[in-house]
Amino acid sequence: MDGVRRRYWMVEKAGPNMRKYGRQLFICNHGDCAPAEEAEALHRLVLERNRQQQLNRLRNPHRIKCTLADCLGVCQGGPILVVYPDGIWYHGVDAEGLERIYREHLIEGNPVEELIFHRHFPGGREPAYAPEMRGDEGLAPVPWAPLVEGTEPEGEPGAVEGAEEAAAELRRMAARRNRRKKGLVIVNTGEGKGKTTAALGILTRAWGRRMKVGVVQFLKHENARFGEIRAAERMGEIDWISSGDGWTWTSDDMDETVARARHTWGICQERIVNGGYDVLILDEFTYLLHYGWLDGNEALAWLEANKPPLMHLVITGRYAPRNLIDFADLVTEMRAVKHPFGEKGIRAQAGIEY
Ligand code: FES
Repeated sequence: MDGVRRRYWMVEKAGPNMRKYGRQLFICNHGDCAPAEEAEALHRLVLERNRQQQLNRLRNPHRIKCTLADCLGVCQGGPILVVYPDGIWYHGVDAEGLERIYREHLIEGNPVEELIFHRHFPGGREPAYAPEMRGDEGLAPVPWAPLVEGTEPEGEPGAVEGAEEAAAELRRMAARRNRRKKGLVIVNTGEGKGKTTAALGILTRAWGRRMKVGVVQFLKHENARFGEIRAAERMGEIDWISSGDGWTWTSDDMDETVARARHTWGICQERIVNGGYDVLILDEFTYLLHYGWLDGNEALAWLEANKPPLMHLVITGRYAPRNLIDFADLVTEMRAVKHPFGEKGIRAQAGIEY
């Protein structure tokens, strides 16, 4: 057997060496859940931490491997950090969050519940931590050294400085991102067609970005089966609440209409506070303000105080009152130029108007 063949045979037989590590982390840097640069800064901070805690050493059985990954399929609320073998997914990880995850979870073994949004395994039933599985758990990880200016943990020289710089960079990026992001109040009003249709366009766009979206219809009948409701069912993951009585300009039981609209406002308030929506449409909400079914100032003060800062609210309906227009960030007035019924008596068409 010549030299080349023998080497090939040996590699094939022996296989490559497996380097031990305790945990593997993945950070998404695809860019939709959080800016890629922020994910990269988080990655640098983990590497600095690893260096400082000596968890970068190839022969340390507790070694932590951290990898930047393409889209992890969440695409919102980032940066996303996944810890394996535990199967624990964290979101919104900033410099402080990472410090907690690193100390409480990776060093001390207690996952940070407030930052978890998904567990691959039921809590407490995660697979054994790799060093325990391999039987080398007798070697304890290096104790946690907090990232406080002036403290000099054991480890390589310069490790704290590097981690401080990475954390500061991450904080700057998160601050920039928060300044850029704002939940808008959008109002589609006016006499023309297309107010709800335009709102549903926003909903579709947000749904396509895997944002959490919902619709509250204040006046549409609770049993309505319009095309958009059927579409939402087929798309999935869209909360749709219609609890009106199908009010029209000629309705004769106004007490019932008003009672239902107020009841729906109560549901809507609960959803705004607890629903976790990125985009919520309040369809035909303007009528509640215009007709005085709700106290407009009170309702807007409530929104001002309780709308989560990053949630986008889209409000539709004719007669948007002045205080709502002042409150909103974006107001569009639909104006009828020509209408098939008004011009030619053509009735509403399925797939176009309902
Ligand atoms: S873009 Fe980060 S999870 Fe999809």
